[in-house]
Amino acid sequence: MSKKKLYIACIGAGYVGGPTMSVIAKHCPEIDVEVVDVNKDRINAWNDSNLDNLPVYEPGLKEVIQKARGRNLFFTTDVKGAIERADIIFISVNTPTKVYGEGKGMAADLKYVELCTRQIAKYSNGDKIVVEKSTLPVRTAESIRRILEAEDSKHSFTVLSNPEFLAEGTAIDDLENADRVLIGSDETPFGLSALEKISSIYEHWLPKERVLKTNVWSSELSKLTANAMLAQRVSSINAISALCEQTGADVAEISHAIGMDSRIGSKFLNASVGFGGSCFQKDILNLTYLCRYFNLPEVAEYWEQVVKMNDYQKNRFANNIIKTLFNTVSGKKISFLGWAFKKDTNDTRESAAIYVADKLLQDRAEIHVYDPKVNSEQVIQDLLYLQKYRFVNNHDFESLPEEEVRDLVKVYNDPYSALKDAHAIAILTEWDEFKSYNWQEIYDNMHKPAFVFDGRNILTRTMMSKIGFKYQGIGSAEL
Ligand code: UDX
Ligand code: UDX
Ligand code: ADP
Repeated sequence: MSKKKLYIACIGAGYVGGPTMSVIAKHCPEIDVEVVDVNKDRINAWNDSNLDNLPVYEPGLKEVIQKARGRNLFFTTDVKGAIERADIIFISVNTPTKVYGEGKGMAADLKYVELCTRQIAKYSNGDKIVVEKSTLPVRTAESIRRILEAEDSKHSFTVLSNPEFLAEGTAIDDLENADRVLIGSDETPFGLSALEKISSIYEHWLPKERVLKTNVWSSELSKLTANAMLAQRVSSINAISALCEQTGADVAEISHAIGMDSRIGSKFLNASVGFGGSCFQKDILNLTYLCRYFNLPEVAEYWEQVVKMNDYQKNRFANNIIKTLFNTVSGKKISFLGWAFKKDTNDTRESAAIYVADKLLQDRAEIHVYDPKVNSEQVIQDLLYLQKYRFVNNHDFESLPEEEVRDLVKVYNDPYSALKDAHAIAILTEWDEFKSYNWQEIYDNMHKPAFVFDGRNILTRTMMSKIGFKYQGIGSAEL
């Protein structure tokens, strides 16, 4: 008798669910993987025959989709059917910061997780293994288990935590060559057997030693801690960048020097205009909220400072543009190179570019944007969203009417048009292509003095000054 085929369903076809399930399907041809989402447009985009239209841009993703889609990888809106068919259900829905009510601006909004848990309970027709993939506050697995048991007493549910550590822009490589996979489970027979099942999926392509097994709470808290520590490194080097600009030290030289200490390590020490992305700020605010909830105010403040330093860095970058442009940017053309929160992704969530643009718009600057992967409507929606839900440093900020935002912000498909006649250029994302532009031509077509504010330190002062630019990087200054 042939072995029963294993079915996986993943609820949520976003930046995490899409790439993760694609890589699982690629390496496990004998397992059927269904990725479901309530968003029909998103599912249609995942099924588009033109792979340039996939909803997520990730290097290498197209090739994986090409190999597995239609074979054992399916994208569908049939939530009910997928839950019925699945032995294992991954929850990979979004968990943004709450924008209303208790914990507003701090706690994770778990309404999508709760809704999909209730759907699992409603449609389950047998015992299921439920795996948390989304980043969640500690002890969410417990809430998921309680909801499942309360809603459906006929079947048994085993809830595991298997947080995702992929970084956008390198998601496929991070999945294929993961440093480690973390699985948290209860030490019950059901828990341990489910853990082995999930582990065996990853063992299709990763050595067994890289699969770490912990209890559920350690697994959940490891994810928050990893993101908090990574963000803290960026805020720490960014804090030093401010000091460098006052003293004549160069932050790149400092990063290099300290990174050679094997206890510190060389990664994640690039000073920048500020970290963005859907995880860092959200996870630290989440951690802070948890600490306050457990009456640990000193611990909460310690981590909160990482986010405050990041706000300071974004603000400092924008203020420096205003100050350098003779204390006003009103009516001036400021061209942005990059809008995504880092290179090689089309994701713009929490991107520093949004905050910098928002600040410059307060002074009624004209913002002209070019990003190789971000479309015009996304830029406008990001600004409108920030204006609606501005929680940090919001006291003196004014929200502009939508027509005014649309009037002041222009997005281009071609960099040279975005940069023509600019008073200043601000580099917000470190896309490789920016380095190979014809900077002489750009200079010739700009207002003088031609200012460049390099928020990613991707260009060199020597080259830019030779052309004639007034160039400012992060963490180094001509004193
Ligand atoms: C430190 C720096 O390591 C060294 O490079 C510099 O030249 C001088 O300052 P030192 O203070 O001698 O050296 O010892 P170190 O090993 O850094 O430990 C400092 C303190 O941190 C100790 O009390 C140690 O117990 C504590 N520590 C260190 C921890 O509590 N946890 C750790 O993981 C590491
Ligand atoms: C992060 C974690 O790295 C990943 O493990 C987790 O699963 C999700 O959150 P991501 O947000 O996709 O991944 O990208 P990451 O590479 O961590 O960058 C986050 C932000 O920090 C970006 O805006 C990036 O530009 C910035 N950054 C990163 C710096 O400014 N300097 C650095 O040295 C590194
Ligand atoms: P992440 O970066 O965590 O992957 P995304 O926002 O990119 O976050 O993706 C989450 C996806 O989850 C979205 O496409 C959203 O439509 C989907 N989603 C949220 N709730 C549900 C639900 N109950 N059922 C199916 N899909 C859902």
